[in-house]
Amino acid sequence: MHITNKQSGTNIYEVADGIYRINTPVVIEGGLGGFSFNQFLIVDDAPLLFHTGPRKIFPLVREAVASVLPVERLRYIGLSHVEADECGSLNDWLTVAPQSSPLCGKVAALVSIDDMADRPARALADGETLTLGKHTMRWFDTPHLPHAWECGFMMEEQTRTLLCGDLFTQGGAEHPAITESDILGPSEAFRQVMDYYSHTQNARVMLERLASAEPTTLACMHGSTWKGDGAKLLRALADVLSP
Ligand SMILES: [Fe+2]
Ligand SMILES: [Fe+2]
Repeated sequence: MHITNKQSGTNIYEVADGIYRINTPVVIEGGLGGFSFNQFLIVDDAPLLFHTGPRKIFPLVREAVASVLPVERLRYIGLSHVEADECGSLNDWLTVAPQSSPLCGKVAALVSIDDMADRPARALADGETLTLGKHTMRWFDTPHLPHAWECGFMMEEQTRTLLCGDLFTQGGAEHPAITESDILGPSEAFRQVMDYYSHTQNARVMLERLASAEPTTLACMHGSTWKGDGAKLLRALADVLSP
């Protein structure tokens, strides 16, 4: 693990071939306590940053990206859904990377991004793929899972890495970059307290679709990246959500 900012503890680690996890531990005032924000940088001919992180940590994320490649090389700034930690600094990124576009699902582009962002989005339809070079991304629409109408996830098909956003969110600030131990228990403990799911009745169908893609790396936005039988873990999540 390479620390890119000593003060904040922001660090970067390659969790799959060409896929870097940028992690910033934080303390959230008002009871939540320790937490973490992760962004994923996919280094390729057309580099992609998935999630920007909250606007307030833009300088930290920029510094971490710059430790791997010149930020102006970025071509896509991706997001799962519209919240500050997913896309708070989108326009800052569009400014420092003049050839980049927002990358999101069709609903996000229609409802928010094509208005909020300084440049039009490259909007992906459900199931559509986008080639970055060596890496190929596939978009999955997951409306309201875990929350937000426009929500969706991306799977990198060569490394079978699912950029699973807020699924399996683990509380706390200190996590190993990668773990093979249980993350469902810790993420369920967090969900019981924060109730951040929408309670959509379609969760099982959508999780089954993600499971069918058979990811072996789950790149969580909050907490550790997990390695193992992703299909099994996604089905276990479906079971606890709708027993
Ligand atoms: Fe979220
Ligand atoms: Fe998030």
